[in-house]
Amino acid sequence: MVEPDEVVSMARMVLARTGDLAGQQVVVTAGGTREAIDPVRFVSNYSSGKMGFAIAEVARDRGAAVTLITTVNRPPLFGIEKIHVNSAQQMLEAVLTATREADVLVMAAAVADFRPEAIAEQKIKKQVDTEGLTLEMVRNPDILAEVAKQKSAGYGPRVTVGFAAETEDLMTNATNKLTRKKLDLIAANDVTATDAGFAVDTNRVTLIAAAGSVEELPLMSKVEVAEAIFDKVSQLNLKR
Ligand code: C5P
Repeated sequence: MVEPDEVVSMARMVLARTGDLAGQQVVVTAGGTREAIDPVRFVSNYSSGKMGFAIAEVARDRGAAVTLITTVNRPPLFGIEKIHVNSAQQMLEAVLTATREADVLVMAAAVADFRPEAIAEQKIKKQVDTEGLTLEMVRNPDILAEVAKQKSAGYGPRVTVGFAAETEDLMTNATNKLTRKKLDLIAANDVTATDAGFAVDTNRVTLIAAAGSVEELPLMSKVEVAEAIFDKVSQLNLKR
């Protein structure tokens, strides 16, 4: 027998045919990138991918064709195309390809700013006579900046949404990112709160639109945050 979860997902997809995102292509990224040090080790962060997975499910349930680009080893979501990547460079290539014809991109992934300059071909061994190990790191590409370049060349998503996970000066930093990364919408969240941000099922975000609106949302489930994001995206889409 088909699993009950699948039956529910199928019913949701049928109901979604008349949703506000019907006929739209939505690309979502989720999870922290993994930057290889050697064949068995990597540098990463605490992102669980929960926010991005919730965004992908909500987009599907509102009728969109969804591509989820992720580093997270969770089973694929029903009706969602999942592309597995590890590093920021792999994520960049997957995003640029998937968004050429897309309507909406939501970058919920926590992309590492730096990666080890070189990946050791063999597992790095500890030396008996040395106390430490120094890793040379180099800057990763900014995926949203590359998407903005693609947009100014005439293709790429019509609406771009980013996240700003901050530990201080939330509004100033988020607003700067909105402008610098040429976003239509940014979801700003204070990741120092224990009930919001990384690895929990709830989040508290402020949605800032390039068009000028600022909406401070209360503590919500990540699914509810995703719904609020697409409510805003629908308004932006309509204006185009
Ligand atoms: O600059 P910061 O990492 O805080 O920006 C967060 C936003 O930018 C997120 O939406 C994240 O997915 C995106 N990002 C990116 N490429 C990077 C770093 C972050 O697209 N190299």
